[in-house]
Amino acid sequence: MSKKNRSRKEDLSWAVRKDGRALWSINANPRSSVYGESLRRFSGVEYRRWDPSRSKLGAAIIRTKRNPALLLPLAGETILYLGAGHGTSISHLHDHLCGHDNHQGGRLVCVDLAPRCLRDLTHLADSRPGLIPVLGDARKFSAWGVLMPRKVKWLFQDVSQAGQVEIFIKAANRFLADDGIGLLSLKAASERWTGDDEAQVFANVEIALEQAGLTVEESIDLAGFEDNHMLFAVRKEENI
Ligand SMILES: C[S@@+](CC[C@H](N)C(=O)[O-])C[C@H]1O[C@@H](n2cnc3c(N)ncnc32)[C@H](O)[C@@H]1O
Repeated sequence: MSKKNRSRKEDLSWAVRKDGRALWSINANPRSSVYGESLRRFSGVEYRRWDPSRSKLGAAIIRTKRNPALLLPLAGETILYLGAGHGTSISHLHDHLCGHDNHQGGRLVCVDLAPRCLRDLTHLADSRPGLIPVLGDARKFSAWGVLMPRKVKWLFQDVSQAGQVEIFIKAANRFLADDGIGLLSLKAASERWTGDDEAQVFANVEIALEQAGLTVEESIDLAGFEDNHMLFAVRKEENI
């Protein structure tokens, strides 16, 4: 194999591989696809294609200028995902965090306020142990925070509503462990209109995150996969 071909393939974890611009995860529920994605075997192991135009986490993994593995939690951890939707990104995260029959011992708590999303997530959880769907409002964690007795090292938020930054900062204060990674997917148009252009909206978000003690390690522009979206990767400084 030429050097060029070898360098295109990259294992991001035991379960996630990047092959050029294609992303794959080992299917934790073999022979079944979640959102119509294709299945393929590599060296006898079944993978699901992770579509970056359907998943902001997937888009960020393709687009990041740093090591893409830095955007994933460690397999086997407990993590919190706010704004789970119908489970597209969640399913790939589950492949990595838990694997088949949850042999990695992970726990993926996913919160969404739409009952139709919860229906799909509950169905997904039937065949994916370790996935814990919660019908709840990301802003009102007194109702469901009891499910998170310990702080987590990885927090993701993708809620399509105004006040995304404030919600994220509060969630990070409450649930993110020191030195933990937080990922905020932000849609400029969901924020209240202040007269600022999109670049200024994103710049203001970075300032708000830094002022809250969250170090912005990278702002990843998802344009082309999800227009008008930025994904902010932050690290929580100790003792905020
Ligand atoms: C863009 S979708 C999430 C897609 C998902 N992250 C994915 O990549 O597969 C945004 C979700 O946020 C949910 N949402 C909006 N406001 C919310 C809130 N306050 N608390 C929890 N979920 C919320 C919506 O119901 C919707 O399912």
